[in-house]
Parts: sequence; structure tokens; C-alpha cells
Amino acid sequence: MVIKMVNAPVIVEIKKIIEETPTIKTFLFDWDMDKYGIPNPGEFLMIWNFENEKPMSISIIDKVKMQLGISVKDVGEFTHALHQLKEGDKIGIRGSYGHGFSTDFEDKKILAIGGGVGMAPINAISRELLIKGNDVSVIAAGVTYDELLFMNSLKEIGATVHPCTDDGSFGFKGFATDCCLDVLKDNEFDMVVVCGPEIMMKGIYDILNERDIDYEFSLERYMKCAIGICGQCCLDPTGWRVCAEGPVFNKENLLQIDEFGKYKRDASGTKL
Ligand SMILES: Cc1cc2nc3c(=O)[nH]c(=O)nc-3n(C[C@H](O)[C@H](O)[C@H](O)COP(=O)(O)OP(=O)(O)OC[C@H]3O[C@@H](n4cnc5c(N)ncnc54)[C@H](O)[C@@H]3O)c2cc1C
Ligand code: FES
Repeated sequence: MVIKMVNAPVIVEIKKIIEETPTIKTFLFDWDMDKYGIPNPGEFLMIWNFENEKPMSISIIDKVKMQLGISVKDVGEFTHALHQLKEGDKIGIRGSYGHGFSTDFEDKKILAIGGGVGMAPINAISRELLIKGNDVSVIAAGVTYDELLFMNSLKEIGATVHPCTDDGSFGFKGFATDCCLDVLKDNEFDMVVVCGPEIMMKGIYDILNERDIDYEFSLERYMKCAIGICGQCCLDPTGWRVCAEGPVFNKENLLQIDEFGKYKRDASGTKL
């Protein structure tokens, strides 16, 4: 029997650590896909370092080696502690959780846009859609060249990559929104998939709505249980839980989420 959702942490050994950028590391570990199922790109895991537990998107789904990867940006106490781990160290994993990206496309033109560590789920979905024979263009955006994630590996497997840096140190100079407008000048797409800072996603959402292009966005909200019980990650006004109905929302749903691009809530529920 496949247990799709593991609600008690499974303790795994970190098999490999890749230093992707000065601030982002990818951690690879074995995952028994016969037992726990194959995660869908866009789903996430709860990572437990035996002190605290936080959500991380699955960036790598290797069905051959039966390995998963998460790509973690060092931004605070928990992620900094993860960055101190070595190959052979152990972490706890529960999941996979949430509703991922749609993957039932063939021979479609897809634009995938990732900002910063938002490239983590974008890497997973881009790989899956390329395997299924789609034509995938990727806008890999970052503040500077050093912070561009998965740009080369996606190019190697056939994606058309548009690197984009805020400071112009590599590729298109400007924000992901500017690069998106530039790419849309000469190309048409059947679907756009997006993950990144919400301010970036809101800009892209406005661009896509003006042009009536279909899309799916991966949202982030503060998470505690990740299994739809605590209500921490509910969205206004629908009450949809990002951990259960999301983190990926389609156009029809996103248009109903008033708080998108306006505010989110901290751990105490206060609007930020
Ligand atoms: C569905 C989902 C997928 C994510 N995927 C990735 C990923 O692939 N790579 C990555 O580096 N980060 C990812 N994050 C964000 C990651 O969970 C936070 O960066 C991390 O929890 C920060 O913890 P910290 O103690 O290091 O920093 P803190 O200083 O505690 O927080 C820094 C920032 O992270 C946010 N954060 C803190 N705790 C949580 C929490 N429990 N749930 C949600 N956000 C939190 C805070 O709101 C704050 O904005 C994801 C978040 C969600 C909700
Ligand atoms: S984190 Fe508890 S309901 Fe989503």
C-alpha cells in the first residue's frame, strides 16, 4: 500500500549537499517512493531538525534514484541551522503535503518563472513538463548572478532559460516582471507557472490578467501543522488553507484571494 502522506516524521540521512549559491544549499535524501508515493511538483515537505519544523518545497524529484531534494535559503535561525548540517547527518521529514502544479500537459508552451529560492518548485515542475514533451521556457530571476538557481541544469535538459538579475550582472537587467514583459513580446504561452516573493508574483499576476493568459502560482504563508487543522495558513476571504488547498492555486482560485499581494499573517495571526 502506498502511504501518500507521512504525518509522523520519517528520519532520513542527508546523502548529498550541493552549495547552489552563497545563500542556498540543496539537501538530497533517499525517499521510499514505493511506500510513500511520488510527490507531485509543487508539493512541500515539513523539515524537522529535532528542534523546530518548517515547510520547504520539493526542488528535486529523482524517480530513478528514489531521492528527493529541498533547496534552502539561509534567512533565519532554522534555515541557518540546516545550513550547518553535513552529509550523513539526519533530519525528519513529513509530507508530502499540499496541492501541486498541474502536470497533465503535452506539447504545450509553458513559461515557468522563479524568483530567488522560488526556483525550487519551479525546477521540479519544469523538469516534469520537459519530460512530458512540453516546450518549457524559464525565467530564472535573482538579485545578482551568484544567486541564480538551477539555471544551467535546466538549460542542459532542454529548457529555454532567460536569466534575469536585478543588478544586471547576468542576463536581462531588471526585475522578473520586466523580463516577463520582454519575453511575452515575442512569445505566446499556453500556461505560466510562478513562484517567488509575493511582490514579484503580484506584478506577474497583473501582467498575465491583462493578457488573459492561464497560470498557476505557488503561495507561501506561515505554517504550523501543514495538515489543514490549525487554520494558521487560511486565506481571506475564502478560508482556503495554503497547506491543503494550496500552495499552488490556479487562475480561477487566485482571482478570489483578496489578500494576495496585499498582506499575510505572522505566527500569531497578525496581518503583516
Ligand atoms: C509552502 C512553502 C514552501 C517553502 N519552500 C521553501 C523553499 O523551497 N526554500 C526555502 O528556503 N524556503 C522555503 N519556504 C520558506 C521557509 O519555510 C522559511 O524561509 C523558513 O521557515 C524560515 O525559517 P527561519 O527560522 O530560518 O527564519 P525566520 O527568521 O523565522 O523567518 C524568515 C521568514 O520565513 C517565514 N517563516 C518562518 N517560519 C515559517 C513557517 N513555519 N512557515 C512559513 N514561513 C515561515 C517568516 O514569515 C519570515 O518571513 C517555504 C515556505 C512555504 C510556506
Ligand atoms: S498550517 Fe495548519 S492549517 Fe495550514
